[in-house]
Amino acid sequence: MYRLVRPLLFRLDAEAAHGWGVRAARLGQRAPGVVRALFPRADGRLAQTAWGLRFASPVGLAAGFDKNAALVGFWAALGLGSAEVGSVSARPSEGNARPRAFRLTADGALVNRMGLNNDGAEAVAARLAATPRPPGFVLGVNVAKTHDPAILGEAGVDDFRRSVRLLAPHADYLALNVSCPNTAEGKTFETPEALDALLGAVRAELGGHGAQGTGHGATNGSPPLASSPLPRPHERREPPPVLVKLSPPAAGGVDVGAVDELVGICLGHGVVGFVASNTASDRDGLRTDAGTLDGIGRGGLSGRPLAARATALTRHLYRTTDGGVPIIGVGGIDSAEAAYARVRAGATLLQVYTGLVYEGPGLIGRIHRGLVRRLDRDGLATLADAVGADA
Ligand SMILES: Cc1cc2nc3c(=O)[nH]c(=O)nc-3n(C[C@H](O)[C@H](O)[C@H](O)COP(=O)(O)O)c2cc1C
Repeated sequence: MYRLVRPLLFRLDAEAAHGWGVRAARLGQRAPGVVRALFPRADGRLAQTAWGLRFASPVGLAAGFDKNAALVGFWAALGLGSAEVGSVSARPSEGNARPRAFRLTADGALVNRMGLNNDGAEAVAARLAATPRPPGFVLGVNVAKTHDPAILGEAGVDDFRRSVRLLAPHADYLALNVSCPNTAEGKTFETPEALDALLGAVRAELGGHGAQGTGHGATNGSPPLASSPLPRPHERREPPPVLVKLSPPAAGGVDVGAVDELVGICLGHGVVGFVASNTASDRDGLRTDAGTLDGIGRGGLSGRPLAARATALTRHLYRTTDGGVPIIGVGGIDSAEAAYARVRAGATLLQVYTGLVYEGPGLIGRIHRGLVRRLDRDGLATLADAVGADA
């Protein structure tokens, strides 16, 4: 079906096509039973547990697709196990001028410089409070600093903290987007000092018991980082688990020293998971010609060219934490093969964005079926058994 629609969508500018996708999703959200009938659920062998939360499917929606949490019911109906809404910032933002999203079809990639357009933490918190939670569906909320170069240093930390305060009560987990390449002032929170200050403030905001959840799910036998069970999400009285979303490594490989320093700071502040990774600022190794790339200009690169780098980061994070900290693998997952490789590199969970643009929603079912086939091939009972097998 998507094969028929895609050529029409791809005649439109990437953001206009996204708008049509959102309209279709809104329609689908009104008839979730129909969507559920069209998109089968994941096999029980693929369910994962992390931070005391059960993910019925390991595949989730990556941040940026549903920035304002308007389509939560639709994502659940599609058979995804989770959605990370946002990035949400303390103040609403219109983002950058259009055009700000571009397809690199030859690379199966996108470049975007949306600039954190979103309704703001207050509006999104109100929407989440009024949104019925699909049963068994995990809702992550991704938080970023307001897109305003004047908000720097301590003001930036306060800005983040305000969003955390407003959104934490509605989140099964919080992901801190410290790696957005589309801020006017650069990546303000991926230096050790800035990350330390930010995480200290988030920890204080969440009540001083650290950015904690229940540590690791039972995916690889590592001891949990903390052990109190979470209440049902909508009855949450404890702070949600906090994850940090990192930048991809350069094409040359992971800068082990720099990443390990950031990981140490995160763990010291009670961070219990990583999202690996955000989009890349460089244009290394692309098929798209230089003239086209120049015409597009700056922005974060997502999709297939990111796969090897996000996998390398996932593998490094898994190794450096001895498999004790669940990782959400994201970047260029557009097939069951890519999904399985990411799990074997160390990802407990997966997210998709650009793959959905190129492959359509049928990708989710194809990943589910392909993962089960690969577990059978490798003689593994559950997906949890595959996590980190190639780390
Ligand atoms: C148009 C677009 C907007 C995005 N917006 C956000 C965002 O607001 N916050 C965030 O953390 N990541 C954002 N991302 C990054 C994705 O969540 C993901 O990390 C990245 O695209 C790599 O995954 P993919 O290759 O499956 O797209 C965005 C990506 C795209 C393509």
